[in-house]
Amino acid sequence: MNDALGEPQSVLVLGGSSEIALATVNALPRRRLRRIVLAARPSAARDLAVTTLTAEGISGVTAVDFDARSTESHSVFINEIFDAGDIDIVLLAFGVLGDQEAAEADPALAVEIATTNYTGAVSIGLHVARRLRMQGHGSLVVYSSVAGDRARRSNFIYGSTKAGLDAFAQGLGDALHGTGAHVLVVRPGMVRTKMSAGMPEAPMTTDANVVADIVVKSLRRGKETVYAPGPLRFVMAGLKSMPRSVFRKLPR
Ligand SMILES: NC(=O)c1ccc[n+]([C@@H]2O[C@H](COP(=O)([O-])OP(=O)(O)OC[C@H]3O[C@@H](n4cnc5c(N)ncnc54)[C@H](OP(=O)(O)O)[C@@H]3O)[C@@H](O)[C@H]2O)c1
Repeated sequence: MNDALGEPQSVLVLGGSSEIALATVNALPRRRLRRIVLAARPSAARDLAVTTLTAEGISGVTAVDFDARSTESHSVFINEIFDAGDIDIVLLAFGVLGDQEAAEADPALAVEIATTNYTGAVSIGLHVARRLRMQGHGSLVVYSSVAGDRARRSNFIYGSTKAGLDAFAQGLGDALHGTGAHVLVVRPGMVRTKMSAGMPEAPMTTDANVVADIVVKSLRRGKETVYAPGPLRFVMAGLKSMPRSVFRKLPR
């Protein structure tokens, strides 16, 4: 449970090798952190994160196998983690960008993106919410995207999964209101991580540590929705009200 100063003691990262999520863990106050669970598919990045955080003096850092698409295993998975002790912060960070062109040509690839980003998130998000409600405290941070604010021609498959995820997370926050548990929806613009590597940079592209600082500040203030960086809120408001005939012609 958060201590008297509101500092978290335990964190669960769903998508435990995500660069934005790991930057968020790094930005959290360290004084009371004693349990970090990195839930991810096995990878060198996940192992390195465990080694690095442990070397930095956090005692209870563990990795557990987790696949967002294996929804049938989510109930047991979440129960095991919460039965071992309360979780103060859950970062729901897994996601795939996918290849828009390939996915348009092969619907099975589009379904794969939707299954990870939306269906998997709905499944694990509801299991997390059930346990946060039982605890009566804790925050779920959901990494949405500005891509979900208005789906663009160039990445509407990814964008539509983030639109669905965002709507789901907003509703979940409303459902948990008054229970002591809380949902923070984060809408980053383009962030320099392995997900965006090699892509031309969009205006206001930022770094994972900038997003992380915004998340930590927003958690402290009990915010429910935040753009990263903040001014993207105004850019997206403009884009959302742009006539479709103009929006369609925007550069990819
Ligand atoms: N980078 C950006 O420009 C940007 C912008 C807006 C929003 N976001 C969102 O922010 C979140 C974090 O992204 P990031 O930038 O930190 O990218 P990242 O480093 O690529 O992290 C995404 C993580 O999702 C994991 N993942 C993918 N499929 C999974 C599955 N089936 N089960 C479990 N884990 C799975 C990946 O793990 P594996 O190692 O197993 O593949 C990867 O570590 C994502 O939801 C992303 O959509 C990113």
